[in-house]
Amino acid sequence: MVVMFVQKETAPETRVATVPETVKGLSKLGLSVQVERGAGAAAGFSDADYEAAGASLVDGAALGAADLVVGINPPATERARSLKDGALLVCTLVPGNSLPTIRVLRDGKVTAMGLEFMPRITRAQKMDILSSQATCGGYQAVLLAAVHLPKMFPLMMTAAGTLTPARVLVLGAGVAGLQAISTARKLGAIVEANDIRPAVKEQVESLGAKFVDTGTPPDAETKGGYAKETTAEFLKKQRETLAAHIAQADVLITTALVPGKRAPVLVTADMRKGMKPGSVIVDMAAGQGGNVEGSKAGERVVVDGVTILGDTNLPGQCAADASRMFARNVLAFLGEFVKDGKANVSMENEILGAVSIVHDGVVRHEPTAQALAAAGGQ
Ligand code: NAI
Repeated sequence: MVVMFVQKETAPETRVATVPETVKGLSKLGLSVQVERGAGAAAGFSDADYEAAGASLVDGAALGAADLVVGINPPATERARSLKDGALLVCTLVPGNSLPTIRVLRDGKVTAMGLEFMPRITRAQKMDILSSQATCGGYQAVLLAAVHLPKMFPLMMTAAGTLTPARVLVLGAGVAGLQAISTARKLGAIVEANDIRPAVKEQVESLGAKFVDTGTPPDAETKGGYAKETTAEFLKKQRETLAAHIAQADVLITTALVPGKRAPVLVTADMRKGMKPGSVIVDMAAGQGGNVEGSKAGERVVVDGVTILGDTNLPGQCAADASRMFARNVLAFLGEFVKDGKANVSMENEILGAVSIVHDGVVRHEPTAQALAAAGGQ
């Protein structure tokens, strides 16, 4: 029997990696599910709900006896020290931001699986936390913008006259962007969107938005469906075309991402200055360096009369559903290698091999290994 421990996250994180609904499925895999007291409270799941679903409630110290620990974020370095030698850890690792913890996990021969490294293959779609959380993020970005915009989204025809609909521009129409378009349309806004991958135009139009065509760089897409970095020349032309659309927008939502790279700067300070006072920008890529000059990760600022929101945990603002989706991803992932109470951890498995950043005392993720070496972590 594998003992699984669900960690209570540290504030300001509000999500939880297992919800009562998935406990039954986890038990069917032969896992004995232990939930740290209060783990689901910030997302609206009570201890009693977990207990009723078949989990047992435990204190934080039980982490040290668990075979498998699941979380949204990696445990703090001190906590990671108390993990059992050879334990499995499943969470988002963001190894570049947690080198001291990675070192502890390596030395404790923990197998640390970073869910954000899930390969974008069909079989792993149901385990893909980046997609599930980006869906929540795109939705929440629009609601947040709507709250900060001093104007309503829909066309209103009232006895007090007609109010025009808000204009929303979405830059980057991947998972988060498409969800933002859909949500803004449902609220009645006029929506435009731009992306550099050719496949996106049709998807944007099918959601009732207008596609702003800035061309496609040659070789725009990886096999996995991600964008590649564009040349400086392409980006300059793209900005020239976008400037007029940005000036017209009441709300600008930016989600452009090239995996492993700093987010492309699509909106310069000059372009931003062209926006009307009172307009709102949500820079979803603020945590990756930002698509908008002047956005600050984790901060909300007003610059030249434009509100710029750099929230880095939008899914945490709809914590119940974000947790539900994360927990279903975790259940599907564990189903990949846990059966009848036994975990079969093989690096030959395409999915396990991709997500296991640390295994058997070795940091397998090359950029992390190099960063550790540079930080004197050999
Ligand atoms: P994705 O890879 O599905 O979409 C990114 C899109 O950007 C792709 O369609 C790509 O073609 C496009 N893109 C790349 N370069 C571009 C350029 N120069 N011009 C226009 N489009 C370009 O990624 P996903 O999952 O939608 O995430 C988007 C961003 O949102 C990421 O930076 C992610 O980290 C962030 N995010 C932020 C959250 C928050 O709380 N702030 C929550 C979830 C995601």
